[in-house]
Amino acid sequence: MTATLPRPYLTSDKGTFGEFTANTRWAIILQNAVEDTEYSMKHDKQDIDAGKDILINLKAFKKEVEDNDKLRPFTQDEMKIANVPLSFNEFLENEGSKETWFNSSWLFAEIYLYRRVNVAFAMNAKKHGSKFWAEFDIFNRLKQETFQLSQYGVTELAIRYVNLNKHLQTDIDVETKQILFKEFLEISLWGNATDLSLLTNATLDDIKSVQGAKAREESESRILINHTKNAFDLLEKTAPNNRIDIVLDNSGFELYADFMLALFLIQSKLANKIIFHAKDIPYMVSDVMMKDFYLLLDDLVDRKFFDVKTDSVEDQALRKVNHDITEYVKNGIFEFKTDPFWTVDLDYTHIDPKETKYNGAKIHEDFLNSNLVIFKGDLNYRKLVGDRTWDKTTSFKTALGDLGHNGIKLVSLRTCKADVQVGLPKGKDEELTTFWEKDHPGKGNWWVSSGKWAIISYNDGTKN
Ligand code: F6P
Ligand code: MG
Repeated sequence: MTATLPRPYLTSDKGTFGEFTANTRWAIILQNAVEDTEYSMKHDKQDIDAGKDILINLKAFKKEVEDNDKLRPFTQDEMKIANVPLSFNEFLENEGSKETWFNSSWLFAEIYLYRRVNVAFAMNAKKHGSKFWAEFDIFNRLKQETFQLSQYGVTELAIRYVNLNKHLQTDIDVETKQILFKEFLEISLWGNATDLSLLTNATLDDIKSVQGAKAREESESRILINHTKNAFDLLEKTAPNNRIDIVLDNSGFELYADFMLALFLIQSKLANKIIFHAKDIPYMVSDVMMKDFYLLLDDLVDRKFFDVKTDSVEDQALRKVNHDITEYVKNGIFEFKTDPFWTVDLDYTHIDPKETKYNGAKIHEDFLNSNLVIFKGDLNYRKLVGDRTWDKTTSFKTALGDLGHNGIKLVSLRTCKADVQVGLPKGKDEELTTFWEKDHPGKGNWWVSSGKWAIISYNDGTKN
């Protein structure tokens, strides 16, 4: 099988979203990082000195990208001080030794970019003894600001949750459970439409238009592959004794939507344990780190953050959500974990007993105890299918490689924001390309990265 694997998407693939990302979006993301560092400058001497050096490094790094330099290996010091896994250098010193920013594997270069940013902070924090920069999340301001702009969707969902909660206290029949499961899975799915790396200039109306209930209803026909029933049937069989894992994607509204799904799964007795998996470094702009869970819980009850009247229906609903999540955390029903595996460059075919260097085998062993692993978002999907140039009708199982048949039951909830896609019926790609071409001349193939379509793809982990 290895011999026939298609190659990954490259940043030099003409007319792709990956090419556009490398040429246009990365410089903007790095410029924002420079500006946020300037904005966050502290007054203590060691913090100012470290901040100045971080800025020098970030600006030089941005120039490296713009000048299409080679992707350099990390130094021994960087690896030690910033805990950089060896996998990056293994790639760059071997098959990736000729890679430059605009001619490299898109997936690798993007993951490497966020690692380089992290290294700039870690090295200078250490050099100047600055605790402030050592703990700093360069994307925190953006994450928090966008979450605050999500007030409309957040309160709407909180009220929906409170109303439903009363009914869930009594036993509901399987049919109702299935309908609600579908609704909450879709809430979590479309929560992924609020991705900060794409929504940097979004207005309140833009955000409203992707977050409300009406928007979700209208979006149902845009779910190109929908394996909701497979996931439901699987859970229903062994309910309530199900452990569900959620490999998270973005903070703020998406994380809130994931909490909604998790609360529903517990209260509907479809599961009795949910484990959330977060990132260990600031990553892909909006991704969830452990500290983002606690920030979200605080935000829900902070009336300077969500400006609703004290004791109003909205206020009470937000408090109830905060209360229920807090209780589940206390009782161990919700658990949060992080692992360096989620931010290494390896794709998820390495979630397999064979991968013993970077925790792939450890994650695999852990997931064998899970009844269903939910992978959220676009980047997780790219990693699941190796971001390879698959024919879009390739089966999901084939594209998953070893992970397709090594015992892990999984579902991917993804709004499509990159070039890769598998599992489509014959002719669908062509149909959508023609459709998108009408309003986007010359860019018909970008339907797949527009964020307008989505998939819910399930795999049962067996050989067949
Ligand atoms: O495709 C655009 C992009 O920003 C990629 O850089 C990255 O794969 C992805 O979107 C991030 O989206 P998500 O937060 O859904 O993983
Ligand atoms: Mg993300």
